[in-house]
Amino acid sequence: MDDAPEPATPATVDADRRRLNAWLWRLPVLLATGGAGFGVYEAYRIHFAKLAPADPPNFTTAPETDVASLDRFDAPWAAVPFAVAGIPSLAVRVPEPVPGGTTASTADGPVHLVGFSRVCTHLHCILDLNTDIELVAFAFNYRSDRPALTCGCHLSVFDVLRAGRAVSGPAVEPLPRVRLGVRPGGADGADQVVADAVETRV
Ligand code: FES
Repeated sequence: MDDAPEPATPATVDADRRRLNAWLWRLPVLLATGGAGFGVYEAYRIHFAKLAPADPPNFTTAPETDVASLDRFDAPWAAVPFAVAGIPSLAVRVPEPVPGGTTASTADGPVHLVGFSRVCTHLHCILDLNTDIELVAFAFNYRSDRPALTCGCHLSVFDVLRAGRAVSGPAVEPLPRVRLGVRPGGADGADQVVADAVETRV
């Protein structure tokens, strides 16, 4: 008995071609449908699924780092950049306590401070504290009554008083907080703000 395969005839070649053409025609439709679905999912995630900061934050200890003399934080929204464990960070004086922040007692009253990583949780650009409320509303499309941490790369905005929550733009995760403390009487006799831990999400 002869088991050799049947030679291809013009009819079978045409049928194969028709099947291939049918799939080639469907491919762009499948890709477009998948892309649209992904777009809808991303839009939902960005607008409705922003993550809340942990309360309390889960801090991982880092080598203690000097930030600045407490005198540098002479008014609300005074901010000082520094680095802890190699992470660009920012200490901000805030008008009210923020979860994960610290409060120093001074002769002039309490000084509320909070620290954040300056690394954007979207694609890792470096953030700045933006104190121009009108600029934030115009350039970042986010209207607020207070300064915010903003990312110039893709226009994410983070709310300092809501513990670094992402409130606008493509970032979804909040900023990691940096634990601050105040060491009495630094080298120049002034109290010193220090950082000694960075938040990690669990
Ligand atoms: S890197 Fe900050 S918004 Fe994209």
